Amino acid sequence: GTPKRTSDTQITLEIDGQSVTVPEGTSVMRAAMESGIDVPKLCASDMLEPFGSCRLCLVEIEGRKGYPASCTTEVSEGMQVSTQTDKLNQLRRGVVELYLSDHPGESLTPDGNGDDELLELADKLDLTEVRYNKGRNHQMAAVDDSNPYFDFDASRCIVCSRCVRACNEVQGTFALTVDGRGFASMISAGTDDDTFLDSECVSCGACVQACPTEALIEKDVVEKGMPERSVTTTCAYCGVGCSFNAE
Ligand code: FES
Repeated sequence: GTPKRTSDTQITLEIDGQSVTVPEGTSVMRAAMESGIDVPKLCASDMLEPFGSCRLCLVEIEGRKGYPASCTTEVSEGMQVSTQTDKLNQLRRGVVELYLSDHPGESLTPDGNGDDELLELADKLDLTEVRYNKGRNHQMAAVDDSNPYFDFDASRCIVCSRCVRACNEVQGTFALTVDGRGFASMISAGTDDDTFLDSECVSCGACVQACPTEALIEKDVVEKGMPERSVTTTCAYCGVGCSFNAE
């Protein structure tokens, strides 16, 4: 998932030794993906503007200091990018470990449904243990189950803002915001103690689809486990796929 292309001018660069030509304005992440190179990511998504918050898509660029985020870095002519060095994977493991220190998963093994991208990434990066103590999220975790279709479990939230951006950019609803800064930041539906039900939320489900950690999860999945088949709905009010519109 990645930022969109914006120009007809072509740029040629090298990613992990492969020559790649893409339109000017393409992100390094998209250029990599278009040449079959999978860069780890959590906050980027195909449908959304890049945000650059999760720090998993870090790459090395010849002649540049530091480790820029590939989702918010545009390609330039002759750029030489590495996406898979030992150093990068070590940094990514550290980032995932920090997220997981705040995440009440009982095990590091993903359940295979692909919905918890954080656990999938931990698995891919061969992260076998989390050294840090559980953080504040884990302690406070009150699940907001006010919405009839989905629950929000703040303890699983990594504040990647994909739900906020999905709400704004896909749905145009602006029901969700990121409150606070840094470690104290949190996704919030409205002000103070507002729940999802009190908010402007129209239960479209765009946030649930966007969430990479199952912090936002359909009630059905919470109660009955993952469905064996999924229903695609075209209902304008609900992307959750409830049976109301399935027939
Ligand atoms: Fe680039 Fe999250 S995917 S910073």
